[in-house]
Amino acid sequence: MSLIKLIDLPDLGDERGGLVSIEGTVDLSFEIKRVYFLYNTTSNCARGYHAHKNLKQLAICVNGQCDFILDDGNSRETVKLSSPTKGLLIENMIWREMHNFSHDCVLMVLASELYNESDYIRDYSDFLNSKSCNKDTK
Ligand code: TYD
Repeated sequence: MSLIKLIDLPDLGDERGGLVSIEGTVDLSFEIKRVYFLYNTTSNCARGYHAHKNLKQLAICVNGQCDFILDDGNSRETVKLSSPTKGLLIENMIWREMHNFSHDCVLMVLASELYNESDYIRDYSDFLNSKSCNKDTK
């Protein structure tokens, strides 16, 4: 099964321009508790490099483009986000990296939980270890 889960967001736009509306629990599998966005990203700077123990997110490139790498510890896939009407769903315990931000990129993220540093796994080998521990206890 692919790690890349893209959700089509309805474009309610008309001749006046685009409009996308996202309602938590209606359009998403989670209630939105936090919204943050990345903008003015420094060129050639990659971001992310972490996983979350308990956090679902929907990432939408509302302007410009960037590449996401998702990794579940077994496989790694890349997807380019370049449309305000496509959301990338990122589940718990997925390592993510964001690369190749265009200078005009605005990456908006809808999150299922408030910010909590203890929910982060920022070391890739810790991530792989947590994955194999979870497998052992199943
Ligand atoms: P970080 O998650 O490391 O950014 P990225 O994954 O995009 O590389 O966050 C950068 C800093 O901002 C870090 O000190 C934590 C802080 N932060 C918050 O305070 N609240 C938030 O919602 C987010 C996403 C980050």
